[in-house]
Amino acid sequence: MKLQEYMTYIKNFDTKAFQSALVDWFKQNKRDLPWRLDQDPYKVWVSEIMLQQTQVDTVIPFFNRFIEKFPTPTALAQADQQDVLKAWEGLGYYSRARNLQSAVQEVQEKYQGKVPADREQLSRLKGIGPYTQGAIMSIAFNQPEPAVDGNVMRVLSRLLKIEADIAKARTRKGIEAIVREIISKDDPSSFNQGLMELGALICRPKNPDCFNCPVQDYCKAYKEDIQAQLPVKSTAKKQKTLHYYVFVIENNAGEILIEQRPETGLLAQLWQFPMIEPKNIDPDFIRPFVEEYFRVEASKVKMLEPVKHVFSHVIWQLSVFHIHVADLSEHADEQRLVTRDQLSEFPFPVSHQKVIQQLLDC
Ligand code: ADE
Repeated sequence: MKLQEYMTYIKNFDTKAFQSALVDWFKQNKRDLPWRLDQDPYKVWVSEIMLQQTQVDTVIPFFNRFIEKFPTPTALAQADQQDVLKAWEGLGYYSRARNLQSAVQEVQEKYQGKVPADREQLSRLKGIGPYTQGAIMSIAFNQPEPAVDGNVMRVLSRLLKIEADIAKARTRKGIEAIVREIISKDDPSSFNQGLMELGALICRPKNPDCFNCPVQDYCKAYKEDIQAQLPVKSTAKKQKTLHYYVFVIENNAGEILIEQRPETGLLAQLWQFPMIEPKNIDPDFIRPFVEEYFRVEASKVKMLEPVKHVFSHVIWQLSVFHIHVADLSEHADEQRLVTRDQLSEFPFPVSHQKVIQQLLDC
């Protein structure tokens, strides 16, 4: 990315007029979102973490419930981690929740529960990268810091005809340098949120609404009619599909075996039904396998609907077996026997929640 060329281009446009066009449009068109009711840095922080991989419409109810349960950094710092994961259940990317809780615990210890208004201190907190740091500094503390996410990169790459690959870190850094140059010093909060809102409502990935764009006059891509070709983004590798057998093992007393996932890795510390790679297990021999593996006697084996779940880097394809056994007293430390009603007390990955739903429906 030839940063200098873009900087020269920016110097030649009327920055003040650009800022006003964007900020005025934002003030008139911004959506009523629950994290916009005040400038509480904790709420801004929670919302930005939730919004990182998740759509606004999905985030709203999770955000409201989360803030009701954990209204302050202190409340979140003192909460049981399982309750935090339970509140995050269904949002995915659970390391975000664990990192957020570790970070507020640090805020509690080092800064007496007050979110620091300092970019260095914020950046040292777990889970706060350059984007989140900039979002908190600008939205909550009104400081002129860039907050460049995918939406903002799309807007800027069209505006300035940036053809560099936005998946590359140096392109993001270049765009941050550009935003630092053009951000409103009077209202950095509305400026950054304006860029985000423009990316969400007008400068959309497909079918951008250039006709209603408040900064159309400044847009190089619009002038050359190449907005559909920008931004340039190299795609991630195709996800690998992993097959698993999932066993819902239920005893005569209606108790079901569940287990906690390991402390690290994908979906760490969430709960699940026992799940095994089907290597060396012939689907026609599920019953003898289950009997030997779980040391039980199966009275009935029924196949439920398969479940597919797409993560960012892998796809899970789950074959699900519901197995009735007479006795199920033996189990490992990380496993529990729970009733159907108790299942809702544990945080499960979405794929296993779909298994629970089938179980409750039948
Ligand atoms: N996407 C990321 N941050 C956002 C915010 N604060 N408001 C709306 N959408 C967003």
